[in-house]
Amino acid sequence: MEEGKESKDPNVAISRTSQTRVLPQRLLKLLVFFLVLCFTFSIVSIYMIRYFGVNNVITSVKPTLFPCNSEMKSLEQWIKPPSNLMHEMSDKELFWRASLVPRVKKYPFNRVPKIAFMFLTKGPLPLASLWERFFKGHDGLYSIYIHSLPSFKADFPSSSVFYKRQIPSQVSEWGKMSMCDAERRLLANALLDISNERFVLLSESCIPLYNFSTIYDYIIGSKYSFMGAFDDPGPYGRGRYNDNMLPEVNITEWRKGSQWFEINRKLALYIVEDTKFYPKFSKFCKPACYVDEHYFPTMLTIRAGSLLANRSVTWVDWSRGGAHPATFGGSDITEGLMKRMFEGQKCVYNDQPSSVCFLFARKFSPSALQALFLLAPKFLGY
Ligand SMILES: *[C@@H]1O[C@H](CO)[C@@H](O)[C@H](O)[C@H]1NC(C)=O
Ligand SMILES: *[C@@H]1O[C@H](CO)[C@@H](O)[C@H](O)[C@H]1NC(C)=O
Ligand SMILES: *[C@@H]1O[C@H](CO)[C@@H](O)[C@H](O)[C@H]1NC(C)=O
Repeated sequence: MEEGKESKDPNVAISRTSQTRVLPQRLLKLLVFFLVLCFTFSIVSIYMIRYFGVNNVITSVKPTLFPCNSEMKSLEQWIKPPSNLMHEMSDKELFWRASLVPRVKKYPFNRVPKIAFMFLTKGPLPLASLWERFFKGHDGLYSIYIHSLPSFKADFPSSSVFYKRQIPSQVSEWGKMSMCDAERRLLANALLDISNERFVLLSESCIPLYNFSTIYDYIIGSKYSFMGAFDDPGPYGRGRYNDNMLPEVNITEWRKGSQWFEINRKLALYIVEDTKFYPKFSKFCKPACYVDEHYFPTMLTIRAGSLLANRSVTWVDWSRGGAHPATFGGSDITEGLMKRMFEGQKCVYNDQPSSVCFLFARKFSPSALQALFLLAPKFLGY
């Protein structure tokens, strides 16, 4: 009834049509104003992205969304490993930062111990694809760090386990203190991740000899750290000792060992925090005293000898004689060699005799990759 009444009233009808004419005009004004606003905002944001980078736009928004001291609010922020390994700390700053240790021994969260695989390389990793296969499916149990010549620019795809795992590096030379510096730099960077419990030093010519779970269990389950350390009475051992090392290092404590170590977090901290032995070795162990064969084995023997297995877990072939171990190329990779690397192993593991002594092997040239890739599933278990 009322509907009909309304529609019959001409005044109402007229006022209505005038209203609908006024409304679009206001709406249009509002729309234009809104459009202009949008336009200026997008211009401003394009300008800001171009000149300050995307991050700054995002971080400049953040403080309004979160309270100022949000960094301190959850434990997550303390235990999360750094997302960007390319920091701007100097070695001095880095080593100080890495040497910070919690006094409360029990972790207030479920800490799954990780192994830090630290690659000390000149440039590329020619055996990367073999390592990729080895790591596949074991996320959360390992972290990777690469120290290469600073001039080398890595170009791993974002799907690679090696993607953005380069640490700030400096030139290092074999047999010189700069080599130990590089190793300490790797350790210090790896220490920044609180979940890293064991630290393995590897080169670009190393391969793993077992599947990931076997190697993980062997290393994590070991009471001792695998640092080669022996007392060599000959000219290449004690013969390299210098009396100026006293009183810090007595000749009876002088040790020699392979550079390729595996150590736990405690020993990694001893190495990174060291200011007592470092000056002595850097001053009095110069070629023909090859410092990378003596500094860590000797220093750790003095500081924590009872924690060392005194053997390396990296297999190397000295059978060809000479000053350098054998390098295996494509034609050397045979079933015979695969078997030879596992043959006749006898050692002590956690105070028990064991036939699994070596977890890694070197040295393999880039040409060995294809043959290794084919034989790995049968002989190496990955
Ligand atoms: C790893 O190798 C061991 C023996 O070498 C085997 O028992 C185990 O099943 C392998 N693990 C995986 C995940 O393949
Ligand atoms: C080195 O240590 C031995 C015992 O291990 C000791 O007899 C000797 O006097 C020490 N040498 C020096 C120069 O202190
Ligand atoms: C390694 O050698 C040190 C002495 O240099 C010794 O105290 C330690 O017990 C040895 N480690 C093992 C597992 O035998």
